[in-house]
Amino acid sequence: MLDKLNDVESTGLDALQAVQDEAALEAWRVAHLGRSSGLMQIFSQFGELSKEEKPVVGKRANEVKKALEVAFGAKAEQMRQAALKRSLEQEQLDVTLPGRRLPLGRLHPDTQIQRELFRVFGEMGFQVYRSREVESDEYNFQLLNFPVGHPARDMQDTYFIEAEGRGDNPIVLRTHTSPGQIHAMREYSARDPQDPPSVRIILPGMCYRYEQTDARHETQFDQLEGLAVGPGITFSNLKGTLADFARRMFGQDTRTRFRASFFPFTEPSAEFDIECFLCGGKGCAVCGGGWLEIGGSGMVHPVVLKNGGYDPARFTGFAFGFGIQRIAMLKYGITDIRYFWENDLQFLEQF
Ligand code: DAH
Repeated sequence: MLDKLNDVESTGLDALQAVQDEAALEAWRVAHLGRSSGLMQIFSQFGELSKEEKPVVGKRANEVKKALEVAFGAKAEQMRQAALKRSLEQEQLDVTLPGRRLPLGRLHPDTQIQRELFRVFGEMGFQVYRSREVESDEYNFQLLNFPVGHPARDMQDTYFIEAEGRGDNPIVLRTHTSPGQIHAMREYSARDPQDPPSVRIILPGMCYRYEQTDARHETQFDQLEGLAVGPGITFSNLKGTLADFARRMFGQDTRTRFRASFFPFTEPSAEFDIECFLCGGKGCAVCGGGWLEIGGSGMVHPVVLKNGGYDPARFTGFAFGFGIQRIAMLKYGITDIRYFWENDLQFLEQF
């Protein structure tokens, strides 16, 4: 029996040396300490021993059991430590890796320019007046002194929406922001028809035309309209306002130029240019002769004042309008107006 116990102990301890993983360890436990192990068989044969043998074998059997259990515990702990060491070495979190960059949204270049324009005109006391994009022929043309069939309409060919029974007043997508002048003047003058308040507003927004698209022409584009109406407003106020705008927007030395022109809703009318801020007026590939064409302007036509509820005998006013994308193109050196609404990230991410 004692020999058998010595054998159980040494084979058990030897076998434990070879154990490499969790599964082998568990198999070892079943084989050497489990119910049908050699050791447990010896315990079960205990009854067959003589009185003298019992305490000797019993003591030794308990020693062997204890030795195997201690060795098992030590092996299990040793394997746990080894596994921990491995995982610490192999599964290291490398905190020096750069984080994942979160893409940050930004304002569309058109919005950026609009906000700059709002700021500049805001400093000069102009408020933003929002007007509708879907218009009637009456507001888009007739009330602005473009009668039905007037040749000046040809410059603003547009989308008409078929609507039964509207005759000469079809629905149109506005071709310019100027119809907002009528809406604004009517709203202001309705507040006090006998003594209407002065108007000093800018009207931004999308306009639509039937265009042969190219680098400078799109079927949709933003305009910024300006309107000032009050007693005693003169052409010098118009010139001063636009000259001041150009200096605030493009730099203190920027000069402005007015050229006589025609618009049905202003009299007299002028187109205004600013000195090219890219070449300083010397002449370059963008401007040609040193001047950049910005937009149209003029003194509000008496008929238009009357249509807005302002008596032309008591009130005068000036108005102007220009393309916002044109300004953005000049400011950022954008060579094609079609980029604005293409939603190409390679373009948009540059701003
Ligand atoms: N509405 C004109 C256009 O789109 C631009 C314009 C010219 C607006 C003269 C004005 C103005 O207010 O006075 O072609």
